[in-house]
Amino acid sequence: MELPGFYSLIADDMKAVDAVIRQRLHSEVVLVRQVAEYIVSGGGKRMRPALVLLTAKAMGYAGDKHHELAAVVEFIHTATLLHDDVVDESALRRGRETANALFGNAASVLVGDFLYSRAFQMMVGVGSMRVQEVLADATNVIAEGEVLQLMNCHNADIDVEEYLQVIRFKTAKLFEAAARLGAILGNATPDVEDALARYGMHLGTAFQLVDDVLDYSGAEAETGKHLGDDLAEGKPTLPLIHVLKRGTPEQAACVRLAIEEGGREMFPQVLAAVKASGALEAARACAQAEAQTAIDAIAQLPASTSRDALIELPTFSVVRRN
Ligand code: IPE
Ligand code: IPE
Ligand code: MG
Ligand code: MG
Repeated sequence: MELPGFYSLIADDMKAVDAVIRQRLHSEVVLVRQVAEYIVSGGGKRMRPALVLLTAKAMGYAGDKHHELAAVVEFIHTATLLHDDVVDESALRRGRETANALFGNAASVLVGDFLYSRAFQMMVGVGSMRVQEVLADATNVIAEGEVLQLMNCHNADIDVEEYLQVIRFKTAKLFEAAARLGAILGNATPDVEDALARYGMHLGTAFQLVDDVLDYSGAEAETGKHLGDDLAEGKPTLPLIHVLKRGTPEQAACVRLAIEEGGREMFPQVLAAVKASGALEAARACAQAEAQTAIDAIAQLPASTSRDALIELPTFSVVRRN
């Protein structure tokens, strides 16, 4: 996969993180190894560990705990993916069959639990109560976000604020935690720590908004995921909310029915309504605004190549195709 320029700044660190990930995946239990290695070897953009590394670097961190913490964050992310694909009944991830499709739902859920708890073992090893607090809180909020989303499946009356709360919880919270961890490692002042946390929150929100756009308009060869997974689950994401509020009565009625019924049958009509109503552009504009808010949040950081990289990240998350 082509990675954008900011990764080159942390290429050596990312290699070290990869080594930690490989080493910490180890288990004596064969099926744990198989499933965990399967999902990890599928790759992934590794944006969250990159965020830990770049924020730590921007703070001038010179210690050796950033690799372990970056791996912790990627393990938590990976655990959520294993669980999410079961809940969403998704069949394709990272360009190949999902773990649930290949090994079954039970193995995916249980190995997700293994990865979560391995992440906790590793974070305890880092020996900072503050770090543990940030990660425990983030993991708890992610779980709440996934449950909130479940509660809103098939709800065509959700408003934009409720939708934004779901994506802040389920996705942006981990970006926030990743950025905050870099700040904590680098002994940032409380103001700077909060600025980086806000940066992560807005970056993560932009990231999920675009993910929801790509679920309608992406190319499967690039996203590595099936289009229409959100509609199949009756998920009222921003492109659909836009049609409900701004589309013609016919477009809105079509989308309402599709959300309430779920499934893939109505995908072509829904996609046509989404496109014709300008919903994708509107959702992208919302993502762009979040990305800009993220960039503005770190204006006070001293100039550095890491700050430049952090400024690149929100734009990448909006223009990305995978
Ligand atoms: C997928 O995250 C889950 C979402 C929050 C949308 P990524 O798009 O970062 O997944 P990988 O790790 O690159 O596969
Ligand atoms: C993923 O949301 C959020 C988490 C994994 C917590 P999605 O369901 O939109 O992510 P994809 O599209 O399956 O990657
Ligand atoms: Mg999903
Ligand atoms: Mg998605």
